[in-house]
Amino acid sequence: MKAVRIHEFGGPEVLKYEDIPEPQPGPGEIRIRIIAAGVNPMDWKMRKGLVGKLPLPMVIGLDVAGVVDSLGQGGVFFQPEEEVFAKLSMGDGGYAEYTVVDSNQVARKPGSIGFVESAAIPTAGLAAWQALFDIAGLEKGQSVLIHGAAGGVGTFAVQFAKWKGAFVVATASGTNVEFLKSIGADAVINYTNQRFEEIVCNMDVVLDTVGGDTFDRSWGVLKPGGFLVSTVEGISEGAAEEHGVHAQTLITRADGKELARISEVIDEMKVKPVVTNILPLSDAQKAHEMSESRHTRGKIVLLVGEDPL
Ligand SMILES: NC(=O)c1ccc[n+]([C@@H]2O[C@H](COP(=O)([O-])OP(=O)(O)OC[C@H]3O[C@@H](n4cnc5c(N)ncnc54)[C@H](OP(=O)(O)O)[C@@H]3O)[C@@H](O)[C@H]2O)c1
Repeated sequence: MKAVRIHEFGGPEVLKYEDIPEPQPGPGEIRIRIIAAGVNPMDWKMRKGLVGKLPLPMVIGLDVAGVVDSLGQGGVFFQPEEEVFAKLSMGDGGYAEYTVVDSNQVARKPGSIGFVESAAIPTAGLAAWQALFDIAGLEKGQSVLIHGAAGGVGTFAVQFAKWKGAFVVATASGTNVEFLKSIGADAVINYTNQRFEEIVCNMDVVLDTVGGDTFDRSWGVLKPGGFLVSTVEGISEGAAEEHGVHAQTLITRADGKELARISEVIDEMKVKPVVTNILPLSDAQKAHEMSESRHTRGKIVLLVGEDPL
């Protein structure tokens, strides 16, 4: 099969589009014939060796949508030809024609959208859902500030928070202000010419997907007892207590049941994945260059097979 592998850590040029053997499903695993593979910043962090020295060679990619191709033995509740999507574990390999994955990480894909949009969901959708609801416990009527709102995680977070009935404030550059209002943000702060801490205060929740100075300045905009969740920054000991709030770093779980719940919300037409770039699998290098710019809107997806929608 065709796959995009790395044999060494480094720049986009270490991504090699090559022929490798098809993987075989073990007990409790499913083999998926991949139609589309989502791209995440974690993919280029893995490629650069920033996530530890993972075993090489390795097929990159964590998010896939496709069709169940074959089943391993035992405990697999899917049938061949079912249309599914999944968040993979590191090293399973999503930039390929086939992958094998633990069936607990798989869900039926939303029926209302195609494989490309479905492949955009797993990591970013689960990250937004887990940060807002499982960790911060965001409720109807509460307020949330979402940093990096125009990105992969942010575009899901804005829509999930709105669906929940929260008041949503987003940060982005000027080119994304109107776009973010169109997907549900109640207010958008252009971080290139406004300081968010001079505009908002007393927020119930802040979701930080940017880090650095943005993270540091976020403590002060929370109400007492509020919740700061970051996808990128560790929380130093005692920091939350010092500010009188709660704080946690997200580590996204690959959870098929939660993915199925997200699929339902998408089929209710309350949330729509934002896919702005679709490239062939053989263009993974270009996809990584785009993602590393840190200024793509929504998601980049690699097309592996033919999406009938
Ligand atoms: N811990 C976890 O489990 C977990 C899970 C998922 C993601 N992550 C991490 O979370 C981060 C975000 O992921 P992602 O997929 O959303 O990334 P992404 O799609 O690459 O995010 C790009 C977006 O960030 C925005 N942005 C850049 N600088 C900004 C700033 N200073 N203020 C506000 N917005 C800014 C850009 O908007 P403009 O173009 O308008 O600037 C752009 O739309 C990544 O580092 C990723 O690795 C971690």
